[in-house]
Amino acid sequence: MKKSTLEFVITAGPTREFIDPVRFLSNPSTGKMGFAVARAAAAKGHKVTLVSGPVSLGTPKGVKRVDVVSAREMYAAVKSALTPGCVFVATAAVADWRSAVFSNRKLKKTEMTGILKLVRNPDILKSVKGCVKVGFAAETHDVLKEALRKCREKKLAMTVANDVTEAGSGFGSDTNRVSFVFADGSVETFEKMSKLSVARRIVRACEGFCS
Ligand code: C5P
Repeated sequence: MKKSTLEFVITAGPTREFIDPVRFLSNPSTGKMGFAVARAAAAKGHKVTLVSGPVSLGTPKGVKRVDVVSAREMYAAVKSALTPGCVFVATAAVADWRSAVFSNRKLKKTEMTGILKLVRNPDILKSVKGCVKVGFAAETHDVLKEALRKCREKKLAMTVANDVTEAGSGFGSDTNRVSFVFADGSVETFEKMSKLSVARRIVRACEGFCS
């Protein structure tokens, strides 16, 4: 029987990995794709928790939002939002690395050696279990191959692949040209469309996985 109301947990935006109070490692993610998925899912009557890194976007109607800064905070917020059988859509551009040390006081230029020791952040999407998982693959080359590898490695129902070198696709843009790559290797490629239209298709695919 089809479950008509699903629980979505969605990550969005970048994370910031602070080195000292005034310096951090991050990336240009604006959160637009994740906020669009949250909006599209809530508009279909689904229960939505949106775990967002630092972005300047308003919360979509009907969405519960949890703001975080670092990857480790995002992981903790995701773990407490997950419910068995929920749908986890990971759109966030999580920083893969953080500084091995954090200084509570601003480091002086003269104290810095020019070498920053990094440690890996947790892979949130890979670690989550017991949910239908959808990931993103923002790539510059071998886009579909990488997307399928992610599907298999992270046990995803689907990876949304996009080539971030293409105009009107990826970071900051209001449009995206994506392919859905499924765990069985099948691929559905779409024309360039608004991120909200991509989001509606993602939500529809998730409804299909849970039917
Ligand atoms: O392996 P890669 O970082 O390219 O995978 C991208 C996918 O994994 C995205 O869906 C992203 O949100 C998710 N991810 C994550 N935690 C990380 C790194 C990536 O959830 N530390």
